[in-house]
Amino acid sequence: MEPPDPVVFVFGATGYVGRAVVEVAARTEDVARVTAHARPGSERAAALEAMASDRVHVDRTPLEAEQLRTTLEACSPSHLFICHGTTAHRARREGLESPYEAIDLGLTELVLAAAGAVSPPPRIVYLSAIGASPRARGAYLNARWRAEEAVRSSGLPFTICRAPLLGGPDRGEARPLETVARTVADPLLAALGAVGLTRLRDRLSSMDAAEAAEGMVRSGFHYMTINRIVESDELRRVGVYERERWTPESRRDTPRH
Ligand SMILES: NC(=O)c1ccc[n+]([C@@H]2O[C@H](COP(=O)([O-])OP(=O)(O)OC[C@H]3O[C@@H](n4cnc5c(N)ncnc54)[C@H](OP(=O)(O)O)[C@@H]3O)[C@@H](O)[C@H]2O)c1
Repeated sequence: MEPPDPVVFVFGATGYVGRAVVEVAARTEDVARVTAHARPGSERAAALEAMASDRVHVDRTPLEAEQLRTTLEACSPSHLFICHGTTAHRARREGLESPYEAIDLGLTELVLAAAGAVSPPPRIVYLSAIGASPRARGAYLNARWRAEEAVRSSGLPFTICRAPLLGGPDRGEARPLETVARTVADPLLAALGAVGLTRLRDRLSSMDAAEAAEGMVRSGFHYMTINRIVESDELRRVGVYERERWTPESRRDTPRH
């Protein structure tokens, strides 16, 4: 028996990468439905509403445990993409204290707890960052590492995608420091790649949302990436496995197509 078509839920869908994940998932042939989550009051939800169709639905469930659980149970996603996170600038604007603890880690834990009630369990595809490690310095990477740990210990099937610097002319929001970092580092990394340091180039060069989203959907659907970390060079690579699909119910050993 063929596994059922994937049903995708995207948390953080108003963001630069989350929105691209919605787009990529929606044009993926065998995906039955995509639910794009926007937090109530999100300034960017209107752009998401413009993408709504018979296959793409926008959901505005409040970020509260019981309500999220009810929504996820009703939607029963096979794949849950977690693409949210804050920045120091946004956190200041919203008056958040310990923002990475509260949002990057705290909301991840909230979503994982709600997802744990869904049967069959959805596969978590988590957007993390290169540099996340138990020895990472700084509140951001420390929170990212702990969020990865929460994903790993959730008991749910998962794929953790560690993205490099994310940006491009399509970001639609000024991030001057990130733009400078990309402008300086990318040509340098391209030169290093030209003299053979291709792995270093592929790990550290920036990518735009479309490339990150393609990589997340590709690796999030595949059995070879189940329960492991996809580093940025693999996220970028269109390898041999992008043609195959995997859905959670099938686990590793039922027919793939
Ligand atoms: N930027 C990078 O170079 C980079 C590299 C690797 C990994 N990452 C990680 O990937 C994540 C997504 O990146 P991105 O560029 O797509 O970010 P983004 O455009 O800033 O999107 C962030 C998402 O998180 C939501 N969010 C922000 N603050 C929130 C809050 N207080 N409560 C609930 N939701 C909130 C946003 O909702 P609203 O639209 O409603 O604000 C949006 O959906 C980042 O947060 C980061 O941790 C980033």
